[in-house]
Amino acid sequence: KSNLLTLADGNKMPQEGFGLYKVDGQETMTESIQNAYQDGYRLFDTAQLYGNEAEVGMALQKLAIPRKDIFVTTKVSEDNQGYDRAIASVKESLKKLQMDYIDLLLVHWPIQRAFFDTWRAFEDLKKAGLAKSIGVSNFEMIHLQYLATQAHEMPVVDQIELHPLLTQKPLFKFNHDHHIVTQAWSPLGRGAVLNEAVLKEIGDRHHKSPAQVILRWHLQSGVSFIPKSVHEARIAQNADIYDFELTNDEMQQINALNEYKRTGREPELVYEYNKQY
Ligand code: A2P
Repeated sequence: KSNLLTLADGNKMPQEGFGLYKVDGQETMTESIQNAYQDGYRLFDTAQLYGNEAEVGMALQKLAIPRKDIFVTTKVSEDNQGYDRAIASVKESLKKLQMDYIDLLLVHWPIQRAFFDTWRAFEDLKKAGLAKSIGVSNFEMIHLQYLATQAHEMPVVDQIELHPLLTQKPLFKFNHDHHIVTQAWSPLGRGAVLNEAVLKEIGDRHHKSPAQVILRWHLQSGVSFIPKSVHEARIAQNADIYDFELTNDEMQQINALNEYKRTGREPELVYEYNKQY
């Protein structure tokens, strides 16, 4: 059901995905993936840091979901950055996931000094076919500009914290201008924004919940988004956003909720960049 986005490398990625952060335990994992798959989700987003890649692999085997039907993202954690570690850790991730390639491989956080080497490893992993697309997560403009000074190919995705309390318009525009798809983590602001009156008001007009209104806002903004829930009804609800449309006014009302408010960590800045340029 989800819309497909074409990435700068020519690969296609579902715009909506299913986030697996804090989905723990084999039974919960299998059930969550089964529900999500039945509801039409095809993108599944995990990370080395989440510690659940093996559970994802087991769940997909158990459910006999064909590899080519799904799009799997994983991320190289901070302690696995650097050329050799990145390569070795991705091979380990593939083993746990029981896969021979990853659809989208992301650098989880920008670590100054290490990310040029990590990125070189990513370019080689892509050449070897172990990753179909390569990208980054939590990169600010300055990190991307810094990376561009040495990269042979640029990231096709930047996955960042983005929701109505942190709309990230400047970074979205920068990414867009550089053919980088912006992907939202915590697209629901970890639930913090769901009580905003304006979202309920808009939702009532369309017979949708505040969560559905937010996800529709992401969809119409051209952002990729990966909501997560361990509740079956919410997983279904979050995929049921393709039968209504927000007006321009409603889009602007949601944009106006921006408070530059992060629920997660602040990406470190790259001080060398300023020294060098
Ligand atoms: P739960 O897993 O208990 O359903 P984000 O994706 O922004 O990090 O937010 C996820 C949080 O929002 C989770 O705590 C999840 O809780 C909750 N959530 C997910 N979908 C919905 C929904 N449709 N309505 C209300 N809360 C939701």
